[in-house]
Amino acid sequence: MSLQERVTQEYVKRFGERPLFVVRAPGRVNLIGEHTDYNDGFVLPMAIDRAIYIALSPRSDNRIELHSLDLENPADFSLSDFEKGNESWVEYVKGMAWALQEAGFDLTGWQGVSAGDIPVGAGLSSSAALELAIARAFATVSGLDWDPAQMALLGQKCENEWVGVNCGIMDQMISAAGKEGHALLIDCRTLESCTVPLPSETAVVILDTATRRGLVDSAYNERRQQCEDAAAFFGVPALRDVDIDTFNAKAEGLDPLTRKRAKHIITENQRTLDAMAAMLQEEPRILGKLFNESHTSLRDDFEVSSKELNQIVDCAMRRKTAVFGARMTGAGFGGCAVALVRDYHAKAFANAVSACYQAATGLQPNIYICYPSEGANVVVSNLENA
Ligand code: GLA
Repeated sequence: MSLQERVTQEYVKRFGERPLFVVRAPGRVNLIGEHTDYNDGFVLPMAIDRAIYIALSPRSDNRIELHSLDLENPADFSLSDFEKGNESWVEYVKGMAWALQEAGFDLTGWQGVSAGDIPVGAGLSSSAALELAIARAFATVSGLDWDPAQMALLGQKCENEWVGVNCGIMDQMISAAGKEGHALLIDCRTLESCTVPLPSETAVVILDTATRRGLVDSAYNERRQQCEDAAAFFGVPALRDVDIDTFNAKAEGLDPLTRKRAKHIITENQRTLDAMAAMLQEEPRILGKLFNESHTSLRDDFEVSSKELNQIVDCAMRRKTAVFGARMTGAGFGGCAVALVRDYHAKAFANAVSACYQAATGLQPNIYICYPSEGANVVVSNLENA
């Protein structure tokens, strides 16, 4: 049974009628442009065919009641009176309501049932998907326009200020604005984006190392601080404003560690633009080479890879007939790598990488061949039948 059918069926069981709407929001994988978002730079993620679905109908009493089929304890609160708690996923529901109200939106209450198939904590942005699914639910029952960039910013505000995780804008932007069949080049300064198709006969394969490390971790904040220090050294608002020539001319003045961090960001921004060009020109080999260079830079200069991520990338790169390139993806320290492969070899590639990684680490990886999906949307609207 599809997730859409599951949430609909469970809604009917719980509330005794059909839901008026079903909304969904996807997780994401970043093809390239890592740790560049909080440097006002470029990222090139795609929304994946794993998502959170919510079946819902409006309520007239200003309350939110949301039951998750995956997680304990429902969200159950009044829109005119709620405060922070430590109720895990429920904080995303409250935090989104708070961010939307702070932005001046007049919200209608609703009741619903949710379910998802994005692995939690794997670095595939299950939290951003939850935020955007909730935003889409509120927008649908409250009659708000869907402005993807505005909703992404409110999702980020929820995550930064309510949940307390210091993330950039990439995950929320791609979950809000993804386009089926495409990756999205996002300028994280202006939030302008453009769709970029995958080269034909290629597939994107997510390689989950089955190792986890939370984003709340100090390492992420430490990297952000080092990038800000480097930007201050160059006298610019963000490292986005430093090109490679300026970096080479002045970098001697930076301490060696900050210099390495800045070098990653500045070269990664250029690689991301080059990757878009390679995709538009149907050059999977060039794109793959950029993946590999990105991994090396994240491993050696930004130092956010891990033994397991390096191992799974190594296993991927051994499948020479299938693979164009592979790299760690997301914040790092654990979670997933991403590989670009020939599509007709994708299944055999997945099996071979799985066996290789398991032999080397004793861990069972999860491997997903994935397709670029649409950003947050309304998949069912029964308004006309109501
Ligand atoms: C996490 C953050 C993003 C981004 C990536 C690294 O996914 O949520 O904002 O910084 O790490 O590219």
